[in-house]
Amino acid sequence: MFCTSMMDLATELGVPSYVFFTSNVAFLGLLFYLQTLQDEQNMDVSELNGSDSELPFPGFVNPLPAKALPTFVIHRDLIPDVRKMARRFRESKGIMVNSFVEIEPHALKSLSHAENIPPIFPVGPILNLKGDGHDQSCSGEFDVMQWLDDQPPSSVAFLCFGSMGSFGEDQVQEIACALEQSGHRFLWSLRKPQPKGTISSPTDYSNLEEVLPEGFLDRTVEIGKVIGWAPQVSVLAHPAIGGFVSHCGWNSTLESIWFGVPIAAWPLFSEQQFNAFQLVKELGLAVEIKMDYNRDFRLEIEPPIVTAEEIKRGMVGLMEPESDVRKMVKVMSEKSRKASVKGGGSSYSSLQDFISHVLGNMP
Ligand SMILES: *[C@@H]1O[C@H](CO)[C@@H](O)[C@H](O)[C@H]1NC(C)=O
Ligand SMILES: *[C@@H]1O[C@H](CO)[C@@H](O)[C@H](O)[C@H]1NC(C)=O
Repeated sequence: MFCTSMMDLATELGVPSYVFFTSNVAFLGLLFYLQTLQDEQNMDVSELNGSDSELPFPGFVNPLPAKALPTFVIHRDLIPDVRKMARRFRESKGIMVNSFVEIEPHALKSLSHAENIPPIFPVGPILNLKGDGHDQSCSGEFDVMQWLDDQPPSSVAFLCFGSMGSFGEDQVQEIACALEQSGHRFLWSLRKPQPKGTISSPTDYSNLEEVLPEGFLDRTVEIGKVIGWAPQVSVLAHPAIGGFVSHCGWNSTLESIWFGVPIAAWPLFSEQQFNAFQLVKELGLAVEIKMDYNRDFRLEIEPPIVTAEEIKRGMVGLMEPESDVRKMVKVMSEKSRKASVKGGGSSYSSLQDFISHVLGNMP
């Protein structure tokens, strides 16, 4: 999806080009929608920044609040590139998406009705369930899994915010406070922010006590565990996990659904606000912590603090045993597992369609 300039080379060589889109169908639809607003209605989409307006986005049943738009699609400096990306997608022969029909039927239908959009092949969920090597080298994994083995089923809230996710000290205090007050068992992947103004990844703290409230680790020793980098797939697969406080990155979302774990949405950047809106409002697969939270990628601007009260409220909803969200996630989990089953699985047959399509377009 970020290499569309290679299409020129492919054309030169007479080879058909396809796009692999690693986020969801609705977000793909959003890129097309914003491009159309600009190309056909001459709209300046940067004016949507900070706006309270709602958009009649055809990929969703609900109107889309401008506040759920990812920063980079309305950022003056990036708009031309995003617009160009959508135009190039249209020139491809087809687009494979890491999603499946059953989770986004509405978004898919809206694209199949739109003009000048190549065929969409939902071939997901494509997951790396074996870990990526980083997990194996994570010396703490054994320790984490052993701790989870000692916890009752569906009792632990797992907090983890992706490879780029981290918070400032004040926000860490609020999370700690919420965890103590809610009293739920928790496993918290707490990571140290990169230096301001850079876009390098967070690192692990050498001493967790330097950021946590005094005495926090002692007071929560019976119910919680704070770690650095988390072996996320193994954790989500563990029966002790009852909920996932997540940044709503699409990989993490698909993993959580695969293992039937409900999500509490706390998006940070990229297209995560949009995913959070989709999960909470459109699909009922997540509860909200703060859907319009928006962390500046370079961490130059500190976003407003999400209070312990707000976090606690989200966590209580998340851990509720018989909630609608929990039931919905279980149903979607089944569907996600069926999608790639040979013969009959929707993504399996979509992949077959893709292969036939490629063969049919050979020079
Ligand atoms: C949106 O507007 C705010 C306030 O004017 C500004 O600080 C911010 O940089 C703008 N963001 C984008 C993505 O343009
Ligand atoms: C998402 O998962 C795929 C493997 O399943 C991996 O290659 C990719 O790096 C992951 N993306 C992110 C942003 O972590």
